[in-house]
Amino acid sequence: MEPMHCGKPRPRQVVVPLLRRDSIGASHHVLTFDCEQPLEAAPGQFAMVRGAQWGESPFLPRPMSILTAGRRPSILVKVVGEGTRRLASSEPGELFTVHAPLGVGWAPCPEDRVPVLVAGGVGVCPLVFLARGLTEQGRRAIALYGGRSAGDLPLDDELAEVTDLRIATEDGSLGQLGRVTVLLESAIEETKGRLKVYACGPRAMMARVVEMCRAADAPCEVSLETIMGCGYGVCLGCAVPKVGGGYLYACSEGPCVDGHAIAWES
Ligand SMILES: Cc1cc2nc3c(=O)[nH]c(=O)nc-3n(C[C@H](O)[C@H](O)[C@H](O)COP(=O)(O)OP(=O)(O)OC[C@H]3O[C@@H](n4cnc5c(N)ncnc54)[C@H](O)[C@@H]3O)c2cc1C
Ligand code: FES
Repeated sequence: MEPMHCGKPRPRQVVVPLLRRDSIGASHHVLTFDCEQPLEAAPGQFAMVRGAQWGESPFLPRPMSILTAGRRPSILVKVVGEGTRRLASSEPGELFTVHAPLGVGWAPCPEDRVPVLVAGGVGVCPLVFLARGLTEQGRRAIALYGGRSAGDLPLDDELAEVTDLRIATEDGSLGQLGRVTVLLESAIEETKGRLKVYACGPRAMMARVVEMCRAADAPCEVSLETIMGCGYGVCLGCAVPKVGGGYLYACSEGPCVDGHAIAWES
């Protein structure tokens, strides 16, 4: 695996065939591509993906976190609209334009802090990649994973392999009843505040996680899932308001950023 933040690999745009689509229920799908040149990427980086034969619509590529790199890179797709529906119904052999790796991945976790990964639904993707990297470094993260119900937790088995996994569901169908932030309260106590949080999920979840980390005086990185047009700093469509005024661009300065630097109330 690439060392995090070191020698950032150069993005490339390639047309590659889909090797396989593994569906996890109706809404979640892992797409694996077949690349001649291995994709080098750090955990937290993303790809802009579009079907090479989609025609005019949807016109823009869709940003997707990278789940695995290498010769067989993969992404996890949750169906929400037309683009993700097209991705989710693709068949092996279909050609895709993949522009990757893009953006800034997760920063390293200081040795004196316990890495705590907080995932909401499909936000698990960049955190599985991070957890695998930490395992290769001989570190085991605590992972807190939440969703509305058991069916909203794709890749929970993959996360369990490389972390100490705790689950919360809002309907109580798996793990603890309630939101993932309930688990974070316990993790802050358990680590006596000596934790670094990495979070990806719905905006409201990340805002609350950052608030809790601020109260615990703990560092907290988040992966921003904003709307993106280009993915590499040209269209200015991914501006996110910062604390103290001004904006940062999620595609080029993120998507992994200091959660305390974001003006969540805006
Ligand atoms: C860095 C990053 C990583 C992401 N990683 C994943 C991932 O691993 N798996 C996953 O399933 N989703 C991921 N997303 C979200 C995903 O890009 C959007 O769900 C997708 O673009 C929606 O496209 P659509 O055509 O299906 O939906 P649309 O019908 O276009 O829209 C449905 C919803 O998605 C939002 N949306 C539309 N276009 C975009 C866009 N270009 N970027 C972000 N949101 C958009 C709209 O605001 C709307 O609420 C990520 C987004 C970003 C920015
Ligand atoms: S998506 Fe175009 S500038 Fe960020």
